[in-house]
Amino acid sequence: MNLILLGPPGAGKGTQARRIAEGRGLMQISTGDMLRQAVASGSALGKEAESIMAAGDLVPDEIMIRMIEAWVDAPDCKNGFVLDGFPRTLAQAEALDEMLGRRDRRLDAVIEMRVDDAALVDRITGRFSCADCGAGYHDRFRRPATEGVCDACGGGAFAHRADDTAETVRARLDAYHAQTALLLPHYRAAGALKTVDGMASIDGVAREISNALDGAGGADG
Ligand code: AP5
Ligand code: MG
Repeated sequence: MNLILLGPPGAGKGTQARRIAEGRGLMQISTGDMLRQAVASGSALGKEAESIMAAGDLVPDEIMIRMIEAWVDAPDCKNGFVLDGFPRTLAQAEALDEMLGRRDRRLDAVIEMRVDDAALVDRITGRFSCADCGAGYHDRFRRPATEGVCDACGGGAFAHRADDTAETVRARLDAYHAQTALLLPHYRAAGALKTVDGMASIDGVAREISNALDGAGGADG
């Protein structure tokens, strides 16, 4: 099964992609995580991406398309993938359609996670993650079961993202509305779009996605 999670910054793409990937044996491909690893490693790509990400702008399409093309053929993707953060522009979506078409593969669904802009700022400014395994948390909505200890790996160090400031969030939201939202009509026309209420609880959203993927579900949105 090949899926895309589409939604604004803080919509819960990473949170749900991780669950879907674990539950269904799929590969989670998060372009944001890959870029942050590149920045941390100090690679040429990381140096180029760092200031773009800090400003909340989009990294150039050709870099992102090359990054994804390297992944579609990876053995880890043999059961399929959940894309989290890609595509973000029409050029990226068209490149993905073309690279899957060449391999006789298809997208099974594009899940749009709809969340009010006001809630997004709250989600992003309260977010933190395990410095060891990357498991995601929130000051109010998802605290570790034992204070200061990661549920997933037992680690005790946590980190905040450099681009999780109120100011950068607004630029990221602008980029979403100006460029990424254009993908909704593209995937609706392809009959692949399914919309879920991203304002529900984390478990509630997971259930809605599951129903959309397994249920009678024709496309909607
Ligand atoms: P990326 O890392 O993809 O960031 P983003 O799209 O801004 O999304 P986030 O990761 O901030 O949010 P999310 O939807 O994953 O939410 P999460 O699950 O963490 O991209 C970063 C940057 O990289 C971009 O700005 C760009 O510069 C660059 N980039 C990446 N891909 C690119 C591409 N394809 N092209 C060009 N540039 C690219 O949840 C957020 C918080 O809310 C968490 O704390 C979570 O615990 C909590 N939460 C989740 N769900 C719920 C819920 N239902 N109720 C309450 N709280 C919840
Ligand atoms: Mg994310």
